[in-house]
Amino acid sequence: KDVAVLVPAAGMGLRLGGGTPKALRELAGEPLLVHACRRLAQAPSVAMIVIAAPPAEVEAVRAMVPAATVVPGGATRQLSVAAALAAVPETIEVVLVHDAARALAPAELVEAVAAAVRSGREAVVPALPVVDTIKRVDTGECVLETVDRAPLRVIQTPQGFRRVTLVRAHEHAVDEHTDDAGMVERLGHQVHCVPGSDLALKITRPLDLLIAESLLAAHPL
Ligand code: CTP
Ligand code: MG
Repeated sequence: KDVAVLVPAAGMGLRLGGGTPKALRELAGEPLLVHACRRLAQAPSVAMIVIAAPPAEVEAVRAMVPAATVVPGGATRQLSVAAALAAVPETIEVVLVHDAARALAPAELVEAVAAAVRSGREAVVPALPVVDTIKRVDTGECVLETVDRAPLRVIQTPQGFRRVTLVRAHEHAVDEHTDDAGMVERLGHQVHCVPGSDLALKITRPLDLLIAESLLAAHPL
């Protein structure tokens, strides 16, 4: 066990709606965060889970996931990850970042990402091919071109890093990135893709909760 997993879980879930922070929204009677952490804890490499919780819910989250370290999250995902990263001891060399909203990501994916970092990759992301036709449009919604989708990937979490690389990326972060690998790319490091998983879908809109219910029924844990 040599891996720390940071779990940004402090978002409001505005696109999902419902008025509760998304990580605390329930799927089959349990918060998304609990589903996510159960799968992380099942991965043999995981030594430590650090959750960035909605600041008002820190105590509630501690009770929900007693084995995790819980810190208050920040105003953006990036700040939440930085807060969690600060709680990781320097003895840990491999750090993964995993969205609470990807509640059904399997332990096998965690292991695959961790293994790639351990084998020497600086940064590792799960990736899936793009299935839809992609077009670029102008501000008036007129199509400018159809983009070749063959070299495009949909990127998921958990994303894995050497701890020092992620720390440096956060120190040098100038603008807001939607994922951690983006900050590492900006530093000029190579980011390596491993095969993603349909189970790692990000629960973002109401439709995603319905999909996740079906996926959970087929892949209980
Ligand atoms: N997140 C976080 N801190 C924030 C914003 C987001 O820890 N200030 C986390 C979310 O809890 C989620 C992950 O980052 O697990 C991915 O973000 P997203 O899916 O965008 O979740 P929300 O920001 O909660 O949703 P929305 O953007 O619809 O409000
Ligand atoms: Mg968000």
